[in-house]
Amino acid sequence: MAEKRSLWGSKVGFLLAAIGSAVGLGNIWRFGYMAYENGGGAFLIPYAVALLMAGIPLMILEYALGHREKASPPLAFARVNRLWEPLGWWMPTVAFFGINLFYAAVIGWCMNYFLLSFNLSWGADTGAFFFGEFLQISDGPFDLGSIRWPILGGTVLTWAIVWGICYREVSHGIEKASMIFMPLLFVLTLVLVGWSVQLPGAWTAIKENYLSCDFSKISLFTDVGRKVWVAAFGQIFFTLSLGFGIMITYASYLPKKTDIVGNALTTCVLNCLYSFITGFAVFGTIGYMAQAQGIAFGEAIKAGPGLAFVVYPEAINQLPAGNRIFGALFFLVLIVAGLSSAISLTEAFSCSICDKFKISRKKSTSIICGLGLAGSIVFTTQAGLFILDIIDHFINNYALIIGGVLECILVGWILKSGVMRNHVNSVSAVKLPVLWDVAIRFITPGMLLIIVAGALRNEFMAAYENYPVIALLFFGGGILFITRLVSFILSHFPWDPVRLDEIHHKP
Ligand code: PHE
Ligand code: NA
Repeated sequence: MAEKRSLWGSKVGFLLAAIGSAVGLGNIWRFGYMAYENGGGAFLIPYAVALLMAGIPLMILEYALGHREKASPPLAFARVNRLWEPLGWWMPTVAFFGINLFYAAVIGWCMNYFLLSFNLSWGADTGAFFFGEFLQISDGPFDLGSIRWPILGGTVLTWAIVWGICYREVSHGIEKASMIFMPLLFVLTLVLVGWSVQLPGAWTAIKENYLSCDFSKISLFTDVGRKVWVAAFGQIFFTLSLGFGIMITYASYLPKKTDIVGNALTTCVLNCLYSFITGFAVFGTIGYMAQAQGIAFGEAIKAGPGLAFVVYPEAINQLPAGNRIFGALFFLVLIVAGLSSAISLTEAFSCSICDKFKISRKKSTSIICGLGLAGSIVFTTQAGLFILDIIDHFINNYALIIGGVLECILVGWILKSGVMRNHVNSVSAVKLPVLWDVAIRFITPGMLLIIVAGALRNEFMAAYENYPVIALLFFGGGILFITRLVSFILSHFPWDPVRLDEIHHKP
């Protein structure tokens, strides 16, 4: 007889945990920057199309698969088709090795910057401070230098928190944490946004750079325009935490009667709304800084970590002393958003290990968090930023999207999308139309393949960020190789046959 699987205590608990995974560091700086780069408000059009064509269908798919099989990705995949187990392992392995390890270090940066923002000890030149004093960036990805102790401190604290939460039973650990983190995050974010938009110069910057539409940038008939469409699909994937097996894992703790379609729609809409709203804070604050320093908005905005750790501190420097608490608030928002995503990354891997090796949640969480901390150390060295950047690039452009394509093939063609649609419709209030089958079998995988092709083309046209090719092969190729190897090894241990053949849905 089947053993009892952990269950969420409430539907709201599940929803908040799923939103907690989706809403992360990416919503705050990645979305804003991409919108700016790619035509301002016009970016919202490809973004919305990507949400409808890939985001929502895949969110429904991941929820449905987890709910139907009550299993982690490797077990769910193996139940549909034994040969697919290694691919089921690949997703949580990528989540853990490819993202979780550096994500914890970045939360460690945020913790440091939270403290620094109280006395502005980053000084006047925030770029020199971040790269020079804080990261003490080395000469290249192979030059590890030494460990940066303040970063290691933040990273240890992050893993300790993640361990403390995932260690407990789902309804007490992840669910309770989400019930605190998420309302807190929404309140803090609203305060931050409300305060940002009233800064001098903020509203003009928002209107001119965020709410304006440059439709020429999204034309499908130009090279630039096509790139924007590809970027929008990539962002939707990343922002919704799709392709990591996380949503499969979270949905595996759902009770039988659950409105899958309703929950999927709510998760997607709230995540994107969160991005849109925080965009006001990002554009407003940068607009304020640009005006205070008399520079153009385009000069002030930066990509990647520079936005949060160089531009933001610079803006905070300009504030009257009484307002400095808002600087700390920004980093607190990043910490809370980051932690709830880090928990989900750990849980997907830990749950897969529990399912296969029948060890307790406590044991697997402890092993995995210990392993995670050890692995994160490389990101606390002086080469941390380089390695993080390369790994992030390869994971986001390839691993994740290929994972999405494979999910579509598994459910769309091997299991048959009609079977899954019937399952979803037997429990959901809103019924799935046949259009979902068309999306899962053709549209979504087709679009994702075009994206991978585009990314590959860029790879051969120019070395990413001018890194030495050998470094790209070693770290980028290395992470893809290691995750595949680990998946391959893990899938060779035998299943408990009872567990493998359990049926949780009506046959
Ligand atoms: N969705 C998160 C964000 O937008 C990133 C993330 C991806 C988190 C995958 C967990 C897993 O930042
Ligand atoms: Na997100």
